[in-house]
Amino acid sequence: MTTNRTFTMIKPDAVANGYTGKIIDDIITAGFKIKAMKYIHLTKAQAEGFYAVHAERSFFGELVSFMCSGPIVAAILEKDNAVEDFRKLIGATNPANAEEGTIRKKYAKSIEANAVHGSDSDENAAIEGNYYFSDIERF
Ligand code: CMP
Repeated sequence: MTTNRTFTMIKPDAVANGYTGKIIDDIITAGFKIKAMKYIHLTKAQAEGFYAVHAERSFFGELVSFMCSGPIVAAILEKDNAVEDFRKLIGATNPANAEEGTIRKKYAKSIEANAVHGSDSDENAAIEGNYYFSDIERF
């Protein structure tokens, strides 16, 4: 079943480089509605918890310290076919492989500092959204 929600983070590189507003504008222009949003600086434990699925990967330590290196913006987004459409909007994980016009092509520098996160399935969208937002913070 396809749900109509996905989860995103604008990562520390994009926030530090002043791209927050441009990325939010791209997201809204693409037809997504923002259902919840917060600006936060993750602790190491929070970043480790969010990326626990990657704990065995060689890049896990670097990924966690990068995600704690500055503030991020976390958001729940709504649109028909949200997960798939958002992944198209942001482009490939490695910006070197991202198509022209995608958020990562425009704003990302490397596979680690890749500007944004987007959930890869409906199931993970729900898990990731719940990681950052309680019911009372959504509508
Ligand atoms: P994201 O979509 O947030 O999910 C996991 C993240 O791990 C991914 O984006 C990348 O930023 C990061 N990542 C994936 N592969 C590598 C890699 N080889 N080296 C460093 N970071 C990586």
